[in-house]
Amino acid sequence: MKKHPVLKIEHMNITFTQYERGLRQVELPVIRDLNVEVHAGEVVAVAGSSGSGKSLLAHGVMGVLPYNASMGGQISYCGEKLTEKKLKKLRGSEIVIVPQSISYLNPLKQIGSQICKGDKSKTKKKKLQEIFNRYDLKPEVETLYPFELSGGMNRRVLISTAMIESPRLVIADEPTPGLDLRAAKRAMEHFRELAAQGAAVLVITHDLELALETVDKIVVFYAGTTIEEASVKDFEQEETLRHPYTKALWRAMPRNGFQFIEENQPYVKELPRGCPFVKQCSMQKEDCKKDVQNRMVRGGLVRCLCAE
Ligand SMILES: Nc1ncnc2c1ncn2[C@@H]1O[C@H](COP(=O)(O)OP(=O)(O)O)[C@@H](O)[C@H]1O
Ligand SMILES: [Mg+2]
Repeated sequence: MKKHPVLKIEHMNITFTQYERGLRQVELPVIRDLNVEVHAGEVVAVAGSSGSGKSLLAHGVMGVLPYNASMGGQISYCGEKLTEKKLKKLRGSEIVIVPQSISYLNPLKQIGSQICKGDKSKTKKKKLQEIFNRYDLKPEVETLYPFELSGGMNRRVLISTAMIESPRLVIADEPTPGLDLRAAKRAMEHFRELAAQGAAVLVITHDLELALETVDKIVVFYAGTTIEEASVKDFEQEETLRHPYTKALWRAMPRNGFQFIEENQPYVKELPRGCPFVKQCSMQKEDCKKDVQNRMVRGGLVRCLCAE
C-alpha cells in the first residue's frame, strides 16, 4: 500500500475581500484550484514568478493568512485533515516554515534564544552549536541582535530557526535570496538531508537552476494555480516538458540561453476562466478559455489542452 503523502493540498483556493471606493465589496480570487503533494523523503520545489501565489500557499498551509482572506479546498497531513487544533500543536516543531522575509525575526530578542525559542536545555545548546557550524555563524552571534547582523547572516538565522527542530514537514519560502552560492547550496543540501531522514520538504523558489540540482519534483505556478508538475529529469530538455509556460521558463534559464518572455501574468480581476497563460500562448484555442483541468501526460500533471 502506498503511504499517505505528508502534505496533500487539493483544490485550494484563496480569496481576498476588499473594499473599493464607495464601500463596494470586491472578491479577489488569488489562488484557484491549486494542488500539491509532498511525500516523506521528497524535496519538492514550487517555482513561479512573483505574485503567482507562492507565499499565500505557504501561509494557507500554516494557518497564518491575513484577516481578509478566506480559504477553501482540503489540506491533509499524513493522511488526516490538518485541523486548526492539530496545526496549533505541531506548528514550530513538527511543521516548520522558513518565512520569506527576515522581518519575521524578532528585533528585540538575542539570536540564540530566538533560534532555541527559549529552550535552555543542554541538548538544544548542542543543536545550536551544530547549526551555527553548518551555517557559518560564529559562536558570538548567539548574544547579538538581528540589527547587528548582515542581511545574509539574518537569512541564515531565519533558516536555522526552522531547521533546529526535527520537522516532518518543512515549507521554505524563498530561503536563498541574499545568500552567496555556497550558502544557498548548503541550505538546499540541508533540506535534502532532512528529507533523507524522512521529512517532506517544500521549497518555494525563484531559482530554478539551483532547485534542479537538489529537488525531486518541480511544481510550476502561474497566476495562482498549478499548471504543471514535472520531475527534474523532465527539465533536461524542453521537449520533455508539457506546458508552454514551463517551456518558456526553461528557455529563460541561463544555461538555455536566457530567452525571457515578457512577464505578463494576468491581474486577478482579469483572469480568464481557463488557462491563465492563454493570452501569451502561441498554441491557444478557443477552448483554452473554458475550464482546463489538470491531467496526466507522459507521467506528469499538466493543465493544458494541447500538451501531448
Ligand atoms: N493581503 C492581501 N490582500 C490582497 N491581495 C493580496 C494580499 N496578499 C497577497 N495578495 C495578492 O496575492 C497574490 C499572490 O501573492 P504572494 O503569494 O505573495 O505571491 P508570491 O509569493 O508568489 O510572490 C499577489 O497578486 C498579491 O498581490
Ligand atoms: Mg512570496
